[in-house]
Amino acid sequence: MGWEAFSEERVQLISQYIETRLDRFEQSISKQLHPMVEAMRYSIQGGGKRLRPMLLVTAAEYLGLPAERVLPAACAIEYIHTYSLIHDDLPALDDDDTRRGKPSNHKKFGEAVAILAGDALLTEAFSTMLDLKENEFSAEQVLNCVATLSCYSGVRGMVGGQFLDVTKGAELIDSLPELEFIHIHKTGALILASVLIPTCLVATDEETKINLRRYGKALGLAFQISDDILDSEANFRYSRGPRKKPKPNYTQLTAPGEIRDRLNGLIDDAISCIDEKKGQTLIDIAEFIRTRKS
Ligand code: IPE
Ligand code: IPE
Ligand code: MG
Ligand code: MG
Repeated sequence: MGWEAFSEERVQLISQYIETRLDRFEQSISKQLHPMVEAMRYSIQGGGKRLRPMLLVTAAEYLGLPAERVLPAACAIEYIHTYSLIHDDLPALDDDDTRRGKPSNHKKFGEAVAILAGDALLTEAFSTMLDLKENEFSAEQVLNCVATLSCYSGVRGMVGGQFLDVTKGAELIDSLPELEFIHIHKTGALILASVLIPTCLVATDEETKINLRRYGKALGLAFQISDDILDSEANFRYSRGPRKKPKPNYTQLTAPGEIRDRLNGLIDDAISCIDEKKGQTLIDIAEFIRTRKS
Protein backbone atom coordinates (compact mmCIF):
# COMPACT_ATOMS: atom_id res chain seq x y z
CA MET A 1 0.00 0.00 0.00
CA GLY A 2 1.44 3.40 -1.00
CA TRP A 3 1.32 6.26 1.45
CA GLU A 4 -0.92 8.39 -0.79
CA ALA A 5 -3.52 5.70 -1.28
CA PHE A 6 -3.31 5.07 2.43
CA SER A 7 -4.53 8.41 3.59
CA GLU A 8 -4.70 11.12 0.99
CA GLU A 9 -7.44 13.02 2.75
CA ARG A 10 -5.70 13.14 6.12
CA VAL A 11 -2.35 14.12 4.64
CA GLN A 12 -4.09 16.89 2.74
CA LEU A 13 -5.70 18.26 5.89
CA ILE A 14 -2.29 18.36 7.59
CA SER A 15 -0.50 19.86 4.58
CA GLN A 16 -3.14 22.51 4.16
CA TYR A 17 -2.77 23.57 7.79
CA ILE A 18 1.03 23.65 7.48
CA GLU A 19 0.86 25.79 4.34
CA THR A 20 -1.75 28.19 5.70
CA ARG A 21 0.27 28.61 8.90
CA LEU A 22 3.36 29.55 6.88
CA ASP A 23 1.37 31.95 4.68
CA ARG A 24 0.04 33.68 7.81
CA PHE A 25 3.55 33.88 9.21
CA GLU A 26 4.82 35.44 5.99
CA GLN A 27 2.07 38.05 6.02
CA SER A 28 3.02 39.02 9.57
CA ILE A 29 6.66 39.89 8.77
CA SER A 30 8.47 42.52 6.69
CA LYS A 31 8.59 41.99 2.91
CA GLN A 32 12.39 42.07 3.11
CA LEU A 33 12.20 38.73 4.93
CA HIS A 34 9.96 36.97 2.43
CA PRO A 35 12.92 35.29 0.65
CA MET A 36 13.71 33.65 4.00
CA VAL A 37 10.19 32.21 4.08
CA GLU A 38 10.64 31.01 0.50
CA ALA A 39 13.58 28.85 1.67
CA MET A 40 11.48 27.49 4.55
CA ARG A 41 8.57 26.80 2.20
CA TYR A 42 10.80 25.03 -0.34
CA SER A 43 11.50 22.26 2.16
CA ILE A 44 8.26 22.23 4.11
CA GLN A 45 6.31 21.78 0.85
CA GLY A 46 8.98 19.58 -0.67
CA GLY A 47 6.96 16.39 -0.99
CA GLY A 48 7.53 14.75 2.38
CA LYS A 49 5.19 11.96 3.47
CA ARG A 50 4.00 13.80 6.59
CA LEU A 51 4.53 10.61 8.60
CA ARG A 52 5.10 12.32 11.96
CA PRO A 53 2.11 14.70 11.85
CA MET A 54 0.02 11.82 10.54
CA LEU A 55 1.06 9.72 13.54
CA LEU A 56 0.34 12.59 15.90
CA VAL A 57 -3.15 13.13 14.52
CA THR A 58 -3.89 9.40 14.48
CA ALA A 59 -2.69 8.92 18.07
CA ALA A 60 -4.86 11.89 19.08
CA GLU A 61 -7.92 10.31 17.47
CA TYR A 62 -7.10 7.04 19.20
CA LEU A 63 -7.40 8.96 22.46
CA GLY A 64 -10.67 10.59 21.42
CA LEU A 65 -9.38 13.99 20.25
CA PRO A 66 -10.53 15.28 16.85
CA ALA A 67 -7.78 15.84 14.28
CA GLU A 68 -8.60 19.55 13.88
CA ARG A 69 -7.81 20.33 17.51
CA VAL A 70 -4.25 18.99 17.35
CA LEU A 71 -3.17 20.42 13.98
CA PRO A 72 -0.86 23.05 15.55
CA ALA A 73 1.06 20.23 17.26
CA ALA A 74 1.14 18.19 14.03
CA CYS A 75 2.52 21.24 12.21
CA ALA A 76 5.14 21.81 14.93
CA ILE A 77 6.54 18.29 14.65
CA GLU A 78 6.76 18.56 10.85
CA TYR A 79 8.63 21.88 11.17
CA ILE A 80 11.19 20.20 13.44
CA HIS A 81 11.50 17.19 11.10
CA THR A 82 11.98 19.49 8.09
CA TYR A 83 14.62 21.59 9.84
CA SER A 84 16.46 18.39 10.79
CA LEU A 85 16.55 17.29 7.13
CA ILE A 86 17.78 20.69 5.87
CA HIS A 87 20.65 20.60 8.36
CA ASP A 88 21.25 16.86 7.81
CA ASP A 89 21.95 17.48 4.10
CA LEU A 90 24.49 20.28 4.69
CA PRO A 91 28.11 19.66 3.62
CA ALA A 92 29.20 19.65 7.27
CA LEU A 93 26.85 16.74 7.98
CA ASP A 94 25.86 14.29 5.22
CA ASP A 95 26.71 16.54 2.26
CA ASP A 96 23.71 15.44 0.20
CA ASP A 97 22.90 17.40 -2.94
CA THR A 98 19.36 16.07 -3.40
CA ARG A 99 16.35 15.36 -1.24
CA ARG A 100 13.01 14.01 -2.42
CA GLY A 101 14.23 14.13 -6.01
CA LYS A 102 15.04 17.86 -5.87
CA PRO A 103 18.15 19.90 -5.01
CA SER A 104 18.58 19.97 -1.26
CA ASN A 105 17.90 23.30 0.46
CA HIS A 106 21.53 24.49 0.48
CA LYS A 107 21.97 23.57 -3.20
CA LYS A 108 19.00 25.77 -4.02
CA PHE A 109 19.55 28.70 -1.64
CA GLY A 110 23.17 28.43 -0.48
CA GLU A 111 24.52 27.16 2.82
CA ALA A 112 24.00 30.30 4.87
CA VAL A 113 20.32 30.60 3.95
CA ALA A 114 19.77 26.85 4.45
CA ILE A 115 21.21 27.02 7.97
CA LEU A 116 18.92 29.95 8.71
CA ALA A 117 15.89 28.27 7.13
CA GLY A 118 16.47 25.35 9.50
CA ASP A 119 16.88 27.71 12.45
CA ALA A 120 13.69 29.52 11.49
CA LEU A 121 11.64 26.30 11.26
CA LEU A 122 12.99 25.15 14.62
CA THR A 123 12.01 28.42 16.27
CA GLU A 124 8.62 28.65 14.57
CA ALA A 125 7.83 25.08 15.65
CA PHE A 126 7.55 26.23 19.25
CA SER A 127 5.46 29.24 18.40
CA THR A 128 3.19 26.96 16.33
CA MET A 129 2.81 24.58 19.26
CA LEU A 130 1.57 27.50 21.36
CA ASP A 131 -1.34 27.92 18.91
CA LEU A 132 -2.87 24.89 20.65
CA LYS A 133 -4.14 27.32 23.26
CA GLU A 134 -6.67 28.57 20.68
CA ASN A 135 -8.17 25.06 20.61
CA GLU A 136 -9.41 24.96 24.17
CA PHE A 137 -6.46 23.27 25.83
CA SER A 138 -5.21 24.45 29.19
CA ALA A 139 -1.91 26.31 29.59
CA GLU A 140 -0.55 23.32 31.51
CA GLN A 141 -1.44 20.90 28.71
CA VAL A 142 0.21 23.14 26.11
CA LEU A 143 3.33 23.55 28.26
CA ASN A 144 3.62 19.77 28.56
CA CYS A 145 3.55 19.52 24.75
CA VAL A 146 6.28 22.16 24.49
CA ALA A 147 8.39 20.28 27.06
CA THR A 148 7.92 16.98 25.19
CA LEU A 149 8.81 18.52 21.83
CA SER A 150 11.89 20.19 23.23
CA CYS A 151 13.08 17.04 25.02
CA TYR A 152 12.75 14.71 22.00
CA SER A 153 14.10 17.26 19.49
CA GLY A 154 17.19 18.26 21.44
CA VAL A 155 20.35 16.59 22.72
CA ARG A 156 18.32 13.97 24.61
CA GLY A 157 16.65 13.09 21.30
CA MET A 158 17.17 13.90 17.62
CA VAL A 159 20.10 16.32 17.96
CA GLY A 160 21.94 13.87 20.24
CA GLY A 161 21.46 11.09 17.68
CA GLN A 162 22.67 13.32 14.87
CA PHE A 163 25.74 14.20 16.94
CA LEU A 164 26.65 10.54 17.35
CA ASP A 165 25.83 9.77 13.71
CA VAL A 166 28.25 12.39 12.40
CA THR A 167 31.01 12.10 15.01
CA LYS A 168 31.34 8.35 15.54
CA GLY A 169 32.12 7.31 11.97
CA ALA A 170 30.86 4.12 10.36
CA GLU A 171 34.08 2.21 11.09
CA LEU A 172 33.80 2.78 14.85
CA ILE A 173 30.31 1.30 15.22
CA ASP A 174 30.77 -2.42 15.63
CA SER A 175 27.74 -3.60 17.58
CA LEU A 176 24.01 -3.50 17.00
CA PRO A 177 23.16 -1.91 20.38
CA GLU A 178 25.54 0.94 19.59
CA LEU A 179 24.00 1.45 16.17
CA GLU A 180 20.47 1.23 17.54
CA PHE A 181 21.29 3.81 20.21
CA ILE A 182 22.00 6.27 17.38
CA HIS A 183 18.91 5.28 15.39
CA ILE A 184 16.63 5.50 18.42
CA HIS A 185 17.81 9.05 18.98
CA LYS A 186 18.30 10.53 15.52
CA THR A 187 15.09 9.13 14.02
CA GLY A 188 13.14 7.32 16.73
CA ALA A 189 12.84 10.31 19.06
CA LEU A 190 10.65 12.47 16.83
CA ILE A 191 8.45 9.50 15.95
CA LEU A 192 8.02 8.68 19.63
CA ALA A 193 7.28 12.34 20.41
CA SER A 194 4.55 12.31 17.75
CA VAL A 195 2.55 9.66 19.61
CA LEU A 196 3.36 11.02 23.10
CA ILE A 197 2.29 14.63 22.50
CA PRO A 198 -1.45 13.74 22.30
CA THR A 199 -1.16 12.09 25.74
CA CYS A 200 -0.32 15.57 27.10
CA LEU A 201 -3.61 16.90 25.75
CA VAL A 202 -6.20 14.52 27.14
CA ALA A 203 -6.54 12.50 30.33
CA THR A 204 -5.08 9.10 29.43
CA ASP A 205 -4.94 6.03 31.65
CA GLU A 206 -1.51 4.70 32.56
CA GLU A 207 -1.83 1.45 30.59
CA THR A 208 -2.72 3.23 27.36
CA LYS A 209 0.19 5.63 27.87
CA ILE A 210 2.63 2.77 28.42
CA ASN A 211 1.34 0.98 25.33
CA LEU A 212 1.51 4.09 23.16
CA ARG A 213 5.07 4.73 24.32
CA ARG A 214 6.04 1.16 23.44
CA TYR A 215 4.31 1.50 20.05
CA GLY A 216 6.16 4.79 19.32
CA LYS A 217 9.52 3.41 20.40
CA ALA A 218 9.24 0.28 18.29
CA LEU A 219 7.96 2.22 15.30
CA GLY A 220 10.73 4.83 15.53
CA LEU A 221 13.50 2.26 15.37
CA ALA A 222 11.63 0.25 12.74
CA PHE A 223 11.41 3.35 10.56
CA GLN A 224 15.17 3.88 10.52
CA ILE A 225 15.73 0.16 9.83
CA SER A 226 13.35 0.37 6.88
CA ASP A 227 15.30 3.45 5.72
CA ASP A 228 18.56 1.49 5.84
CA ILE A 229 16.92 -1.38 3.93
CA LEU A 230 15.65 1.02 1.25
CA ASP A 231 19.13 2.54 0.96
CA SER A 232 20.75 -0.87 0.63
CA GLU A 233 18.32 -2.15 -1.99
CA ALA A 234 19.11 0.53 -4.53
CA ASN A 235 22.35 1.66 -6.14
CA PHE A 236 20.82 5.07 -5.90
CA ARG A 237 18.92 5.82 -2.72
CA TYR A 238 15.26 6.44 -3.36
CA SER A 239 14.83 10.02 -4.59
CA ARG A 240 18.50 10.65 -3.76
CA GLY A 241 21.92 10.59 -5.30
CA PRO A 242 24.64 8.21 -4.13
CA ARG A 243 25.76 8.80 -0.54
CA LYS A 244 29.02 10.79 -0.37
CA LYS A 245 29.83 9.99 3.24
CA PRO A 246 29.65 6.50 4.72
CA LYS A 247 27.30 6.34 7.66
CA PRO A 248 26.65 3.76 10.34
CA ASN A 249 23.87 1.44 9.20
CA TYR A 250 22.42 -2.03 9.66
CA THR A 251 23.65 -3.49 6.43
CA GLN A 252 27.28 -3.33 7.60
CA LEU A 253 26.51 -5.29 10.79
CA THR A 254 23.88 -7.89 9.86
CA ALA A 255 22.79 -10.15 7.03
CA PRO A 256 19.80 -8.95 4.95
CA GLY A 257 17.48 -11.65 6.40
CA GLU A 258 18.35 -10.64 9.95
CA ILE A 259 17.53 -6.98 9.29
CA ARG A 260 14.13 -7.99 7.92
CA ASP A 261 13.52 -10.15 10.99
CA ARG A 262 14.42 -7.26 13.28
CA LEU A 263 12.08 -4.96 11.34
CA ASN A 264 9.22 -7.49 11.43
CA GLY A 265 9.73 -8.11 15.16
CA LEU A 266 9.49 -4.40 15.95
CA ILE A 267 6.41 -3.88 13.78
CA ASP A 268 4.69 -6.90 15.38
CA ASP A 269 5.55 -5.52 18.81
CA ALA A 270 4.18 -2.06 17.91
CA ILE A 271 0.93 -3.55 16.62
CA SER A 272 0.50 -5.69 19.73
CA CYS A 273 0.29 -2.48 21.81
CA ILE A 274 -2.74 -1.13 19.96
CA ASP A 275 -6.40 -1.87 20.62
CA GLU A 276 -7.50 -2.90 17.14
CA LYS A 277 -11.12 -1.89 17.73
CA LYS A 278 -10.20 1.80 17.75
CA GLY A 279 -6.64 1.86 16.47
CA GLN A 280 -6.80 0.43 12.97
CA THR A 281 -5.07 3.45 11.46
CA LEU A 282 -2.16 3.18 13.92
CA ILE A 283 -1.88 -0.45 12.84
CA ASP A 284 -2.02 0.56 9.15
CA ILE A 285 0.83 3.04 9.68
CA ALA A 286 2.93 0.29 11.27
CA GLU A 287 2.18 -2.01 8.33
CA PHE A 288 3.12 0.77 5.93
CA ILE A 289 6.54 1.01 7.61
CA ARG A 290 7.00 -2.77 7.35
CA THR A 291 6.74 -2.72 3.54
CA ARG A 292 7.32 0.87 2.47
CA LYS A 293 9.07 1.74 -0.76
CA SER A 294 9.37 5.50 -0.15
C1 IPE B 1 13.71 10.74 6.30
O1 IPE B 1 12.46 10.76 6.92
C2 IPE B 1 14.80 10.87 7.28
C3 IPE B 1 14.81 9.89 8.36
C4 IPE B 1 14.60 10.26 9.57
C5 IPE B 1 15.10 8.49 8.10
P1 IPE B 1 11.12 10.63 6.05
O2 IPE B 1 11.26 9.47 5.11
O3 IPE B 1 9.94 10.64 6.96
O4 IPE B 1 11.16 11.98 5.22
P2 IPE B 1 10.07 12.68 4.29
O5 IPE B 1 9.63 13.90 5.06
O6 IPE B 1 8.94 11.74 4.01
O7 IPE B 1 10.84 13.04 3.05
C1 IPE C 1 18.31 11.51 8.95
O1 IPE C 1 19.03 10.36 8.91
C2 IPE C 1 17.92 11.76 10.39
C3 IPE C 1 17.63 13.15 10.68
C4 IPE C 1 17.62 14.10 9.81
C5 IPE C 1 17.35 13.47 12.03
P1 IPE C 1 19.82 9.95 7.59
O2 IPE C 1 20.86 10.97 7.29
O3 IPE C 1 20.24 8.56 7.78
O4 IPE C 1 18.64 9.98 6.52
P2 IPE C 1 18.60 10.47 5.03
O5 IPE C 1 19.10 9.32 4.22
O6 IPE C 1 19.48 11.67 4.90
O7 IPE C 1 17.16 10.79 4.76
MG1 MG D 1 22.28 11.88 8.51
MG1 MG E 1 21.24 12.12 5.66
